[in-house]
Amino acid sequence: MNGTIIETKNLTKIYNGKIKAVSDLNLEIKEGEIYGLAGPNGAGKTTTINMLITRISPSGGTATVGGFDIGKNSLEVRKLIGVVPQDFTADEDLTGRENMMMVSQFYNVPKIKAQENCRNLLKLVELEEAADRLVRTYSGGMRKRLELIIGLVHEPKILFLDEPTLGLDVQTRIQMWNYVKEIQKRLNVTIILTSHYLEEIDELAARVSIIDHGKVLITGSPADLKTSLKGDIITITLSDEKSAQLMKTVPGALEVKDMGQNTVKIKVVNADESLPNIINFISQHELSTVRLTVQKPTLDEVFLEYTGRSIREEDGGSDARKLAINMRRARQ
Ligand SMILES: Nc1ncnc2c1ncn2[C@@H]1O[C@H](COP(=O)(O)OP(=O)(O)O)[C@@H](O)[C@H]1O
Ligand SMILES: [Mg+2]
Repeated sequence: MNGTIIETKNLTKIYNGKIKAVSDLNLEIKEGEIYGLAGPNGAGKTTTINMLITRISPSGGTATVGGFDIGKNSLEVRKLIGVVPQDFTADEDLTGRENMMMVSQFYNVPKIKAQENCRNLLKLVELEEAADRLVRTYSGGMRKRLELIIGLVHEPKILFLDEPTLGLDVQTRIQMWNYVKEIQKRLNVTIILTSHYLEEIDELAARVSIIDHGKVLITGSPADLKTSLKGDIITITLSDEKSAQLMKTVPGALEVKDMGQNTVKIKVVNADESLPNIINFISQHELSTVRLTVQKPTLDEVFLEYTGRSIREEDGGSDARKLAINMRRARQ
């Protein structure tokens, strides 16, 4: 079992004496894991990161990073961590490699070692060919990849990634996910990842805390959080109405809804366990199925369950969706 590498106790940040951005946050992050902080814009994710990386000081509570207190031992904390902030930091008028070497120098990495680290990291995110081009010629995805490895030049034990795929298109985001996974596997760093894209957290994080209004609503593995909703849906279309009616008597279902057109929606606790029974029922009664699909809850539904609202409604999970919502509003 891995040890705890970051621990916060009632960590709190109040801005200007009135805005409670982070409120009594208790986290326990294990060495080597990818830990997700998920929540909508304004939830307090960046504020939490900024306290842990000792950029701002807490208004209350304590935290240790790698065993060091963020208040008393901030210098030690800084040596252990790498940070990839939400916004771009690389100098556009330098090449990718020059940016990396500059940061290496800042951390006093010996030159030969720094050159070797840069080569390896550039290779890891497939930026070798672009390494000696000015950053201003990079695409959005290439810049994010560069930022990612700039955070790693001094071989930190812990990497903070604040919204690593913000503003990237879906294709590029998926690419980034693979690089993050590869980095965690190869370099064995602990990664703290924030995102308001819940599918990103689901894809990458071993454990996640869902945060809203500065408070942790729930912590767990994405799989456990989704399973806890007890709401897998199996949709079956049968060959005729009589079969569909019979299907409504299938044992072990939480709920069966008649959708019309010989189709039923069966809600079960866990589809992986219920499917064999359902398939047995179908074959025992010699029913003939036209179509069968399984739908598991997403982390979006977990967020909805705990907040009563959808994360997508407020900050537009996708621009297309936001546009659709705005257009609908404009028509009303
Ligand atoms: N420097 C600041 N001064 C005052 N309020 C701030 C500051 N930074 C963030 N906030 C506020 O704190 C809350 C949390 O913000 P933030 O940590 O940036 O959330 P997230 O990263 O989850 O989007 C928001 O209400 C935001 O407006
Ligand atoms: Mg943020």
